[in-house]
Amino acid sequence: MNTVLNKPRILTGDTPTGKLHLGHWVGSVENRVKLQDRYDCYFIIANIQAFTTRAERPEEMRDNVMQVAMDYLASGIDPKRSTIFVQSEIPAIAELTQFLSMLVPFPRIMRNPTIKDEIRDKGLGDNYPIGFLMYPVSNTADILTFRPELVPVGEDQLPHLELARETARKFNQLYCAVDPQTKDEDYIKAGGLFPIIQPLLGRVKRLVGTGAPGKNGQLLKMSKSLNNAIFLSDDSDIIRKKVMEMYTDPKRIHKTDPGCVENNPLWIFHETFNPDQDWVKEAEAHYRKGQIGDVECKKKLVDVLVALIEPIRQRRLVFEKDPAQVIKILKEGTERANAIAEETLILAKRAMQQDYFGKRQVKYNK
Ligand code: TRP
Repeated sequence: MNTVLNKPRILTGDTPTGKLHLGHWVGSVENRVKLQDRYDCYFIIANIQAFTTRAERPEEMRDNVMQVAMDYLASGIDPKRSTIFVQSEIPAIAELTQFLSMLVPFPRIMRNPTIKDEIRDKGLGDNYPIGFLMYPVSNTADILTFRPELVPVGEDQLPHLELARETARKFNQLYCAVDPQTKDEDYIKAGGLFPIIQPLLGRVKRLVGTGAPGKNGQLLKMSKSLNNAIFLSDDSDIIRKKVMEMYTDPKRIHKTDPGCVENNPLWIFHETFNPDQDWVKEAEAHYRKGQIGDVECKKKLVDVLVALIEPIRQRRLVFEKDPAQVIKILKEGTERANAIAEETLILAKRAMQQDYFGKRQVKYNK
């Protein structure tokens, strides 16, 4: 049975849009792997959320769920200690989404900066489905269903977590008679059902990609769709190719212009991933003076990234050859997740006085 019952819970996860990359790793996955000892961890693969903008590609999403599951397992998420599960197999989340949506003002969604960015970046115009606008509510339900203490995420998820916090406060005040003056950390003590969760950001908030800056001169975020990502499943040849072709400081070719370390992916990657930070400091100083070449520093970066990714890739190969094993892990995880989700739903319905056929009803009728 569950040996980790007394540990505080973590809930986080990903929308399955493809394979995970280094941005996911430093933004959250690395944290998750470390937190498994101290927390009872739940990792959701949010496939319904993936449907918000990809409803016409079910096959791709089915594959993406598997890809994300394999990346989790390969990264070191241990299914014996942690629970990996599929969102659409947890009916309680859908039910809670519906109830919680009554507590979320529509304009609040339209002001959500992550939603606004997505509408702009994905060119959705005004053609997005109503389910797209529902996804922040569903994201809130994903979280609250597990009543976690901590939610480790990347920075772009903070607006969603704020909604989860606001909605939890509102639910607790409305249905559990918690005083609105209550401090966030005291909501459970005060009789609330849902904790006011804390976000946990990764050590790098927003990892840049391997490509040149965008129109505004800012380096773009690492992202599969921008074609600037290094994946946790890339082999050493692909890593070498991506790093060797990586954008650095274009002005450097002119001897008069010393190399710029700032806003340069080569150095951002070294600072983020190279365990030998003394070398990085020294090399950066040489680079600024034009005393060390791009190629040499890129080769070093290839070594650093291969050392990080190759063990992950090797573990992944084992799961790639055995999809049945991955499905089994997802099934067992989903069962464990459902046990908690069903319990939360019962408690939430009881708080909302919508438990008609339980024991309480007998007392209530008197
Ligand atoms: N919104 C997250 C993403 O885009 C995925 C996600 C769904 C999630 N539900 C969540 C993250 C709950 C943290 C907690 O990747």
